[in-house]
Amino acid sequence: MHVEVRGLNKKFGEFQAVRDVEFSIVKGQLIGLLGPSGGGKTSILRMLAGLESPDSGDIVFHGKRVNDLPPQERGIGFVFQNYALFKHMTVEGNIAFGLEVKKWSKEKIKARVAELVELTGLKGFEKRYPHQLSGGQRQRVAFARALAPEPQLLLLDEPFAAIDAKIRQELRSWLRDMIDRLGITSIFVTHDQDEAIEVADEIMIINKGRVEQKGTPWEIYKNPETPFVAGFIGESTIVENVASLRGFESASAWPGTKALIRPEYVELGQPNEFPILSATAAGKVRHVHFRGSEWLVEVEVGESKLVTYRSLEKEVLHREKKFKCSFTGRICSTTATAGLWRTS
Ligand SMILES: Nc1ncnc2c1ncn2[C@@H]1O[C@H](COP(=O)(O)OP(=O)(O)O)[C@@H](O)[C@H]1O
Ligand SMILES: [Mg+2]
Repeated sequence: MHVEVRGLNKKFGEFQAVRDVEFSIVKGQLIGLLGPSGGGKTSILRMLAGLESPDSGDIVFHGKRVNDLPPQERGIGFVFQNYALFKHMTVEGNIAFGLEVKKWSKEKIKARVAELVELTGLKGFEKRYPHQLSGGQRQRVAFARALAPEPQLLLLDEPFAAIDAKIRQELRSWLRDMIDRLGITSIFVTHDQDEAIEVADEIMIINKGRVEQKGTPWEIYKNPETPFVAGFIGESTIVENVASLRGFESASAWPGTKALIRPEYVELGQPNEFPILSATAAGKVRHVHFRGSEWLVEVEVGESKLVTYRSLEKEVLHREKKFKCSFTGRICSTTATAGLWRTS
């Protein structure tokens, strides 16, 4: 289903929870809604589902405005964070529930439940009750239940937030495969950037009720449009006084400019390793953290602290050791308040 949202606003009392939200989703795409808690993600989903009505704006499915349609007529499946399975019903009962409400025939329900049990890998668990299942299995039941009435849009609100890290990782890959297979348009809410990057085709960063940026994970990482986005996605250091860094002098042309510097844009080396010495500055190594596949090194350069990675194959650094860092760069950000600088 093609989804179009225009000028969506929602206030709770005096508090504006959702502000002028606009986006569209191509059929079959999986969009990740990523942002800090309280940003308005759940409110957006609830309005799409018809569980909350917007103060203004249009929600359009397949070219048809659905603002006034009740939830059960919108063709939406919803999976919540807290399983919300019916405790007194078996796996089969939970999956069949929505179909019984819709008055499907017994044979049709039986066939559909069997199909979903197979699809979600729950064969053999049909007669179990929710308390006899693991967290991951319960979420798969919730997923099967949401899919049962053949929705055209699937909304997943932090579905794995209550599950341990290892299982969560497995569920992410599982979900991605499942959605690819079904080709169902989906929105996946999370506050975990790794989860969003791994699962979604495109991400929307939501903060204070607004969409700060929409794009593929790579586009957002490479070209953050606001300081919030730059700080939220990936490792970075915010440098307040950029003009004090060699190679960044031109930044002083913008009063109040901050630079957001990614670790991979900072290079550490001895003076003779850099061809253009004028673009390097002396730094002191402050901390060295072992990260398994590399070192994460914190370096102090003038008043600024930068973060960079260092290969395990290189000489091990120690605190206080003086190194030259290179910072030649160009501006990649489109805003004057956040410069993202990289080595050329
Ligand atoms: N029914 C409600 N009544 C009052 N305030 C609400 C209600 N629902 C959400 N809010 C407020 O709106 C803001 C956004 O909430 P929510 O959409 O749940 O954010 P998120 O899902 O990103 O954490 C929060 O400050 C929350 O307290
Ligand atoms: Mg929420």
